[in-house]
Order: sequence, then C-alpha cells, then structure tokens
Amino acid sequence: MCILNIYSMKKIVLFASGNGTNVQQIAEHFSGRSDVEISFLFCNKKDAYVLERAKNLGIPFQIIDRHSFYETSAVYDQLAALNPDIVVLAGFLWLMPSNIVRSFPDKIINIHPALLPKYGGKGMYGHHVHEAVVAAKESITGITIHYVNEHYDKGSVIFQASCRVLPQDTADDVAAKIHLLEKEHFPKVIDKLLNEQ
Ligand code: GAR
Repeated sequence: MCILNIYSMKKIVLFASGNGTNVQQIAEHFSGRSDVEISFLFCNKKDAYVLERAKNLGIPFQIIDRHSFYETSAVYDQLAALNPDIVVLAGFLWLMPSNIVRSFPDKIINIHPALLPKYGGKGMYGHHVHEAVVAAKESITGITIHYVNEHYDKGSVIFQASCRVLPQDTADDVAAKIHLLEKEHFPKVIDKLLNEQ
C-alpha cells in the first residue's frame, strides 16, 4: 500500500514572495491527504512571512536570488529534480524565466487578484491592484487563476470568480473580499487540475 502511494503521490511546488495566506490555505486543504504533497517552496524574499508559515507547516523551502533565477540554471535544475505535477505561484511577484515556462507547459499556474485582462501586467500586484480597482470606481472585481507564460498575467484563464465593490469600499475592503475568494477557490482549483492529469 505504501509503495503504491509513493508512486501515485502528486507533487505541488510553490513559489511565493509575501505574506503567504494562499500558501497556508493550500497546505491546509491538502493536509492529511495521502495522494498529494506540498514538496517545496521557493521564495525570493528572505524576510517574507511566508517563510515562517513554511517552517510551521513543515514545507521545505529555499530563498532564491535574481542571479540564480535568471542567469543560471540552478532553480530550473532544482525544480526539474523535484518533478512537480503542478507549480503554483501563490503571490509570487517575479516573472518566470522562459526556460522554466517552456519546460513545464500547462503545469505552472498563477493567481491574480483581479478579473484579467483588467488590472494585470508588470507592477500590478497586491494592493496596487485593489487601489486601481477603487480609483476606477469598479462595481465588480474578482480573482483569476491562469496558466503562466512568458508575459505578466497573459496566460490562458483557468478560472475566475467575482465579488461586488461597493461605492464606500476602500482598497483594504477589496483586499479582504479578494482574500475570501482566494481562500474559497484556489485550493479547489489546484485539486481539480491535479485530478484531471
Ligand atoms: C494574493 O492576493 C495574490 O492574488 C496576489 O498577491 C497576494 C498574495 O497574498 N498576487 C498578485 O498580485 C500577482 N500579480 P498572500 O501572500 O497572502 O498569499
């Protein structure tokens, strides 16, 4: 039985840059599952709170720097050795290098806190997105889960969910609504994609 599990175990590798609420929610969703493991976390910020979460959750991690990510094959080699079934960008703010994108077709996904193609692109992340949504007086916003290609927020859309923006909502209010949507949907979408493989 154990041998079967080792061979059928699906592996998730995470990339994150910040607080790590999505990492936490993904880990909690799959905790206790014998068919899926969170194998590893790559983080580009040595003081990111997500690293505290990773320690508490028992997820092995590594801090990466720009040089090793973009100018060497070190991260690529490590990722290839991990042999992930899915690579999840959970609040990861760097563009994925093209050697990684090309080597994992339809295996790298990202979550974006807006209804793409609105409010996407370089510099559009986290609070910047929510502030732009409020400034534009949008009445609806949401989340987009999409495949990752070599351009910021341009890969094909897998899933979207929306929420209302009220006239009095601040960027913090919008952020809270977005986090609820992320909590509700992101782990389930990952689970579904793994099941479809
Ligand atoms: C999330 O809201 C995610 O959608 C967003 O960063 C936040 C990370 O929060 N991602 C982007 O803006 C990507 N362009 P977390 O670190 O608490 O999971």
